[in-house]
Amino acid sequence: MNDMKNAGTVATIPSDAEVTARVEALLGRMSLEEKVGQLAQISGADFMPGPKAEEIIRKRGAGSVLWLNDTKKFNELQKIAVEESPSGIPLLFALDVIHGYRTIFPVPLAMASSWDPAVAEQAQTIAAKEARAAGLHWTFGPMLDIARDARWGRIVEGAGEDPYLGAAMAAAQVRGFQGNDLADPERVVACAKHFAGYGAADGGRDYDPVFLSEAQLRNVYFPPFQAAVNAGVATFMSAYMDLNNVPASGNRWLLRDVLRGEFGFAGFVVSDAIAVGNLVVQGHARDGRDAALRSLKAGLNMDMASSVYLENLADLVNEGLLSMAEIDEMVRPILSLKVRMGLFEHPYVDETLLEKVVALPEHRQAARVAAQRSMVLLRNEGGLLPLPKTLKNVAVIGPLADSMEATEGSWMVFGHKPAAVTVLQGIRAKLPEASVTYAPGPEIRKDIPSFFDEVIFSEAQKPIQTPEAAEAAFQTAVETARGADVVIMVLGENANMAGEFASRGSLDLPGRQEELLKAVVALGKPVVLVLLNGRPLSINWAAEHVPAILEAWEPGTEGGNAVADILFGEVNPGGKLPVCFPRSGSHAPLYYARTLTHQPEDHPQYRSRYWDSPTTPLYPFGFGLSYTTFSITNLNVSASQVKIGESVTVTADVTNTGKVAGDEVVQLYIHQKWGSDSRPMRELKGFKRVPLNPGETKTVTFNLGADELRYWSTNAGRWLQDAAAFDIWVGADSLATLHADLEVVN
Ligand code: BGC
Repeated sequence: MNDMKNAGTVATIPSDAEVTARVEALLGRMSLEEKVGQLAQISGADFMPGPKAEEIIRKRGAGSVLWLNDTKKFNELQKIAVEESPSGIPLLFALDVIHGYRTIFPVPLAMASSWDPAVAEQAQTIAAKEARAAGLHWTFGPMLDIARDARWGRIVEGAGEDPYLGAAMAAAQVRGFQGNDLADPERVVACAKHFAGYGAADGGRDYDPVFLSEAQLRNVYFPPFQAAVNAGVATFMSAYMDLNNVPASGNRWLLRDVLRGEFGFAGFVVSDAIAVGNLVVQGHARDGRDAALRSLKAGLNMDMASSVYLENLADLVNEGLLSMAEIDEMVRPILSLKVRMGLFEHPYVDETLLEKVVALPEHRQAARVAAQRSMVLLRNEGGLLPLPKTLKNVAVIGPLADSMEATEGSWMVFGHKPAAVTVLQGIRAKLPEASVTYAPGPEIRKDIPSFFDEVIFSEAQKPIQTPEAAEAAFQTAVETARGADVVIMVLGENANMAGEFASRGSLDLPGRQEELLKAVVALGKPVVLVLLNGRPLSINWAAEHVPAILEAWEPGTEGGNAVADILFGEVNPGGKLPVCFPRSGSHAPLYYARTLTHQPEDHPQYRSRYWDSPTTPLYPFGFGLSYTTFSITNLNVSASQVKIGESVTVTADVTNTGKVAGDEVVQLYIHQKWGSDSRPMRELKGFKRVPLNPGETKTVTFNLGADELRYWSTNAGRWLQDAAAFDIWVGADSLATLHADLEVVN
């Protein structure tokens, strides 16, 4: 179908009035069956029961097709929708393009570690361009769930624990995916998910219920979603779980009052997969019919893959339980989006485009830079890093050292075959003259496999290593390390160990990895630990005994090259943690922005909240080292006292006091000392990643105004700015000590 006319050309942007007129004209000639078709997102994959996509589309059309990643098939289905379905309304093809389509970027948690929204925007711009060239219109991203519990597997998909950083990353990703114009043929429609509170699952167990106060929702969990709306996100996805006992996909308060009413969102909401049907399983709806009624009334436009809308909505209208006006209200924004995208004029994709687009060298280059910028140097005793390129004899050890899957990480695009440069390959490419030996050591594996392990992750499908084979692999790894001058250990988690269906109780290195690390360190060689993982890990032993630790996360297609760039000093790491690292899984949820207790940690009589371990994080939020040193000085607040509603300017100087160029992320934290509610002991309210040459000083400027100083108050039941005193800190992480005072008065 390469000759299909109008494939991928730029559409003219219709005015709002034109969009409305076209949508109303369409609605006027659509049957109820067809309208309901637009409210359904149907599976393009064979694993779902029920009628096949072709059949549904031919009969009544459909809003969207998901779980299909086949350019030719897109055109075939689109042809049925446009030429054979009654109203000829084109389909939206949707898929999870979370951190790259073919060129895979670092996972979102890693991207947040860059503290560089521009790099996230560029990554999603490229992801959008590749995905659109493949024929996709819509991605289920960005994932905006604040996650303060590292046991929760889906922490990997978001920007970490903080609403301010999360909001910045949210807006950047929306801009990257969507650009400025929904008709841009190189962009895809974004979907802010999962609305809302999913990251606070009880015990970090995926899908478990969430109980959050209105204040927590509004102050912590909503800000990234509000930022996405402000950035123009066209769609939302409702979450799976119960929020305060009402499932998010049937939650009228969330979908109507907050999202539409308060945020002013004018797009449409799709459920999470099968979530409408699951209202029955969750004990909210009596049966599918009741589920359809509840979700539609709650304001959920599109049913992802449960068929419950398709099977019940028309009957509900015919029986008078729903009005046609209620159906039209839900269909309108779906049709509007299709009109605005120019889909009616350009429904098809040029089947030759993708291979040209993915071959663009700037995509690989951008992936490498993104990976470099997202890595966090956690330890570097004695300046072991960077390593000299003159090394002759290096051993690369660990189960992830040569794993493409672990390097590209969680949430691979449906059907994607990992093709990353592994850490081993990156190091070999950097040291062409040296002997670089390799041994994986014992394999690592989830104790309880998930559905995804059976269908997606090739490493989970390999035969299980016997204990004897594991022991032999262990010994080989130690012997390989013994023969080297420097050992680079690549440990962490497989790609399937974080993500959906991938929560865990412990945050320790899985399997025999720590035992292997100890055995290698015992050899007395210089050891560098490179971590590939999608969540914080409680690497307590390593943090004391391994001189150099680089948190590389799941760094994507160019990950191995980026690791080598950093290990050998071509790039100076400048990433910072977007989550704290707890010392144990049992300490989760752990986050820096807690309110004070009556006996704070520094109280002389009360040193620890647990008697068996300190409750401070192993590494704090915002932490990360560099190959150079920085000083942050001259904190200045433009006024020591302001009235409610007024702003101050906060400035500080940051100087590179070392010998190589590097980036420092300068962070601004506040604490409101008293008021209507107690407020967190620290809250991030500004950050800037600043590149500095040796000896160079730059002044960083932040604005603190009503937006930063107000909060949603439980006591007042509304947004509020108190007259109160504030601490202000500026520094290099959430433990910053450079301090100033600010007083806000009536
Ligand atoms: C996930 C969503 C995802 C959807 C479609 C669900 O299981 O929770 O994040 O977008 O599937 O693949």
